[in-house]
Parts: sequence; C-alpha cells; structure tokens
Amino acid sequence: MRNSAIAIASGATITSAALYMFRRRAELRAAERFAAAALETVLNAIDANDSQTGDHVRRVANYSLILADAAGLTHHEQRTIERVALFHDVGKIHEALFDIIHDDDTLTPGQRREIATHPARGAKVLAPLNGFYPELAEGVLSHHERWDGTGYPRHLQGSAIPLSARVVAITDTFDAITHRRRYSDGRSALIAREMILQGRGTQFDPEFVDLFVFPPVFERIVAAERSTTLWKAPIHGRRTGANGDKVPDITFRWRPGRSGGRGRPASDQPRKKVR
Ligand SMILES: [Fe+2]
Repeated sequence: MRNSAIAIASGATITSAALYMFRRRAELRAAERFAAAALETVLNAIDANDSQTGDHVRRVANYSLILADAAGLTHHEQRTIERVALFHDVGKIHEALFDIIHDDDTLTPGQRREIATHPARGAKVLAPLNGFYPELAEGVLSHHERWDGTGYPRHLQGSAIPLSARVVAITDTFDAITHRRRYSDGRSALIAREMILQGRGTQFDPEFVDLFVFPPVFERIVAAERSTTLWKAPIHGRRTGANGDKVPDITFRWRPGRSGGRGRPASDQPRKKVR
C-alpha cells in the first residue's frame, strides 16, 4: 500500500517536471521568435529609411558569410557576423545624419565627425536586444576600429576588436569601393582587392585579408558581387529557426538572380581557422 502511494507520488512529480520543461521550452521558443522578428523589423526600418543602405548591408552580409565560412568559423560565429553585417550601419538612420548622408556635396570636417558617430548611435539603437544578442551592439560599435588601433570610437587594437567587426571592416570596404557612392562610380573588384591588401595589418586583420584575397575565396566574393550588380536581382531575406544555437537565430538568404544559391558548397572551399 505504502509502496504504491510512493509510486503514484513520484509519477506525479515526473509528470509535473515534464510539463514544466515543456512549458519552459515553448516560452523560450516564443521569446526567440520574437527577438528574430524584432531584428527583421529593424531591417525593414533600414529599407524604409534608405533602400540603398538596405542593399548595401545585405551585400556586406553576403560577403561576410563567404569569408566566415572560408575561415571555418562556427555556426554561432557565422550568425553573429551575419547580424553585425546586416546592422552595422543602423546608426545612419538617425535624423542627425540623414541630410549629411544624402547630400551630394563634399563632406566638411564637421560632417565627417558627425558621421563618425554612427557606430555609437547604432549600438544604442540595438542595446535593448543585448539580452538576446550579446555580441551584436558591441560588433556594430566596433566596425570602424582599425587593426593598428587608429580607428574609432574606442581605438581598439588587434584581436581586442570583436571578430565580427574585423570581418565586416573588410567586406564593408569592398562594397564601398565596388558600389557607387556620392561622386565616385563603383570601381572594379580587382582595384578593391588591391586597396584592401594595402590595408593589411594597418586597417585590417592580416589573417582575414589573406583569406579574402585567397583566389578561391575571392572568386566566390566576386561572383556574389556580380550576381547582385549585373542581374539587378532583388535581395531576399528569410528567417529560420534557432538551429540548436544558444541564442536566437536569424538567417537571411540571398538569391543572386537566375543563377541561384550562394556559390559552391562550403565543402568545396578551403578552410582555414582564423581567430
Ligand atoms: Fe559604417
């Protein structure tokens, strides 16, 4: 009699523990979906404010993913880099910068100083998401830091600069050179490659530069650049599940026109661990 009472009691305990776990997991999933939706909303706001910036950040995210994949970075690191790439310029939607950014006149020193506030403004916009994406605001804040410590806003040096910001610094520069801005027409990918090489070890992380210019990797980046430039393809984004990651996940895919896909499969690419 006593044994059966104990069995019933422990059965009830197991059931309520399972129920608790089930509810907890459902709550977590709902929170993750909500955080991912919040990021999509911010991306929509970037598009609504300035579609050119929306296209720019998607291209930068695309190149950054190619570089991160070639570096053999983990899924979590790749997703972090992707998010920092997508939101690195969110600070430019600030009204204080809008006229300066959209004015075709040459920038005055004062305007340059104003524009240099965009990493900090972007980090502030994203700060409420710190609990979900702890590395996002930090990466955005650091994307204009330079390897030699002469960047801004905090003059971080070398590996003190977050990994995501070191990748985005290169891919952002590549896109700025190859796509038209203000007076200048976009220049060729080969010219951009040379300019990035010139910044090896001063502006940029030398290991990531070596990987960027490594022919099979550079070919993938050039193919991605051509697919968005020549085909004038719409750049799509799509959200997927958490994929076993510890933090909420948001994944965007780009379809470069009729060719489809994002280049050759990762398994065909050289892998080099860069930290
Ligand atoms: Fe920037």
